[in-house]
Amino acid sequence: MKALRHLFGIGPLAPGQIEYLVDLGESFLELSRRPVRKAPTLRGKTIINLFFENSTRTRTSFEIAGKRLSADVINISAQASAVKKGESLLDTAQTLAAMRPHVLVIRHSIAGCCELLADFLPGTAIVNAGDGAHEHPTQVLTDLLTLKTRAGGWRGKTITIVGDIAHSRVARSHLIAAGKLGYAVRLVAPKTLLPADIERYGCEVFHDFDAAIPGSDVLYMLRIQSERLADACAFPSIREYHEAYGLNAARLAAAPEHAVVMHPGPMNRGVEIATDVADSARARILDQVESGVAVRMAVLTALCGGEGEEA
Ligand code: NCD
Repeated sequence: MKALRHLFGIGPLAPGQIEYLVDLGESFLELSRRPVRKAPTLRGKTIINLFFENSTRTRTSFEIAGKRLSADVINISAQASAVKKGESLLDTAQTLAAMRPHVLVIRHSIAGCCELLADFLPGTAIVNAGDGAHEHPTQVLTDLLTLKTRAGGWRGKTITIVGDIAHSRVARSHLIAAGKLGYAVRLVAPKTLLPADIERYGCEVFHDFDAAIPGSDVLYMLRIQSERLADACAFPSIREYHEAYGLNAARLAAAPEHAVVMHPGPMNRGVEIATDVADSARARILDQVESGVAVRMAVLTALCGGEGEEA
């Protein structure tokens, strides 16, 4: 595998690199189920999680991933950072890099900020934990590992992504991954929640959810990203949105019998997903969370060069 210096997105990765990270993640699933969940792989490595947006699962799973592999992990949130005192993102990142961490995991609302910062932080590996509406590579690696272990793989499958596509870095990273890895993506959304240039990804687009359900192997539900919705007129009301685009038991029953339900979280029950569907045996949502720790262990290991690497 080509060595990994940074993880900016799915875009820069070769298919073999993606598959390598998923396979390595699968081996870490086993470690995460042992009574003693600790390995020495990243002993002596320092990882800083720098999160400028709210996060439960992504931040926590990076922290657990680092700790499970014996790295020293430091968490910084926007509320607690010097950015609150007027410091720029670049100054904050350069300050932290001067403390010589091996890896800086960044979540920020500016699309492309990780590539930008990397030029100023030589010697620090950067991981994109979500940059605006651009990319969220570790979520897609998480989903791929879940598909591999809990849904019969991804090759030749059709993943139907439903909801706020316009603001979803998860959808964008999936569109890029699908082209590299041989699965198809269908997008389902009202016109107001689709990006203008969507055709260029070569995916099928539906405005009618029911029409997209037959032939779907995965129903992948997205949250309405109200924090990014500038105009409040994307859809008439939550109730109408749920009627038209929510996954309820009747819609799930219309899907092929083997089809599974996924969601990157956080879920809004009663909006994009009905409670009985979220809790059904066909939901893989908590499996995604478990996979998330394992693939982040894989990413950190690949970036740090594994055990015994000193360079
Ligand atoms: C997603 C994100 O932050 O892009 N969540 C996540 O990382 N699990 C999706 C979302 O916020 O709705």
